[in-house]
Amino acid sequence: MEINFKNRDIISITDFCKEEILYLCKQAKEMHDLEKNNERDGLSNELKNKALAYMFYEPSTRTKTSFITAMRQLGGSWDGFSGIEGTSVMKKETIRDTVMMMEANHFDVIVMRHPLGGSLQWAADVALIPVINGGDGENEHPTQSLLDIFTLYLLSDENLDGISIGFGGDLSHGRTIRSLSLALSCFKDITIRWAAEDFLGMPEDLVELMKSREVGVIREKSVEDVISNVQFYYMTRPQLERMEGITQKDVMEMMKKYRIDLNKVKESNVKLMHPLPVNSEIAEIDYEVYFDGSQAFFQQAENGIFLRKALLHEMLKGVESVQFSGKLNHLLEYGNNRLKRIIKENVKEKRRFIDNITNGTVVDHLLPGTEQEIVAELDLMDRGSSAIPAHLPKSGKSFLKTDLRELNERELKKITLISPEATINYIKDGKVADKFVYLLCKNINCVTRVVNEDIPPKFYDDTGTIRCRYCRKSYSITSEKVSQKEKEEFINLLPEGIEQIKFHA
Ligand code: NCD
Repeated sequence: MEINFKNRDIISITDFCKEEILYLCKQAKEMHDLEKNNERDGLSNELKNKALAYMFYEPSTRTKTSFITAMRQLGGSWDGFSGIEGTSVMKKETIRDTVMMMEANHFDVIVMRHPLGGSLQWAADVALIPVINGGDGENEHPTQSLLDIFTLYLLSDENLDGISIGFGGDLSHGRTIRSLSLALSCFKDITIRWAAEDFLGMPEDLVELMKSREVGVIREKSVEDVISNVQFYYMTRPQLERMEGITQKDVMEMMKKYRIDLNKVKESNVKLMHPLPVNSEIAEIDYEVYFDGSQAFFQQAENGIFLRKALLHEMLKGVESVQFSGKLNHLLEYGNNRLKRIIKENVKEKRRFIDNITNGTVVDHLLPGTEQEIVAELDLMDRGSSAIPAHLPKSGKSFLKTDLRELNERELKKITLISPEATINYIKDGKVADKFVYLLCKNINCVTRVVNEDIPPKFYDDTGTIRCRYCRKSYSITSEKVSQKEKEEFINLLPEGIEQIKFHA
């Protein structure tokens, strides 16, 4: 098969196949060998005149620095921001516009980290230049998993089949466990064992996904049970920044039994990995372990340089510059999230509520009690539009009529955020001219839910499961009003995977 990373976005590890992962390991090994043989400078002109933009909306030490180091050692340059203070994000600039500015500044590649899931797919959709995911919320961190896999490759004589690995720490709120699990699922006979409190445990959807990819996932009672049965143990930091209403003290209590101290590792041959940073107060890895032969996490960090050098080299070497157009692709204007509902003619009940406006919009099947909030959110009164909210206690029906002829994307999103899966009816000359449900990803940390970012929601059909194009979480239609036929028709229209919607030069 032809392996080609030129101009490719690196958003999810699921976009890679086994051959591509192994190819990158091989290239990274070459970078490793050059370094170890004191021949690093041999590549110092490879990416001359290429520039990397870094956009870190969340803290980073390793990921940012290693991309910069990789760029520096390959003869390229870099610029960007770490933390939004001092940038126009403080002035409410969107991700879309910030990405466009990096392009206008003639960068050749962007690496970005952002707290919201799906933000990186969005950045990639906007940019003509390639975009690398440096971590999007709880979702993914593909280059971390590539460097983890590269570390495993070096420690396992370049054979990744048959690996047994333990997971510990916070398996629920981090992105490294998700991406690493997905990466490992490309290989044969992989076993994952883990032990943690339920709150920090491996997410159900990930366990299911692993099982469907024939990865053994076994929950053990204790860390000791895990360690005595695996070659590698991958510890992670509790992601406090992604836990609401939980203090560090609560987490320390939860993790007491699960910390890695010298006693747990000294009798075994396990290799201890960690994406880093370690939280030195919680000390999920005790300091004494740092001086023990089981420690492999600092090596992992250096391997990140080799892997990212290999990746940037593959992506940018010999690639022509992309000319900035200053224009957005029209495909970014439209989603595929409108579930068309069948318009029934002459239904009596419908007549009663709908026919008596000649032209306008009826928002139907609202969550009871949300009508007034929607009137306020859409500013209907101040705009001089009519607004007739109604709740009919007998039928339990809540709806809203307005003379607004159509609603724009922001208005539809605002309604859906307040009352998911309402039915929108556009009335023309006393007849229902269009009737649909506006579907919006239900993952509260998905970037598509940010109204001002203006991301038209897009879904795809992942062998029968509807998934959000951006955060890739599954979506199930819950409205009882939507019939099986309507659901099927909607799914039939979805693409079968993540389509590339940009057109590279
Ligand atoms: C990780 C991250 O940001 O997801 N850090 C990293 O890139 N090495 C892990 C973490 O912050 O816990």
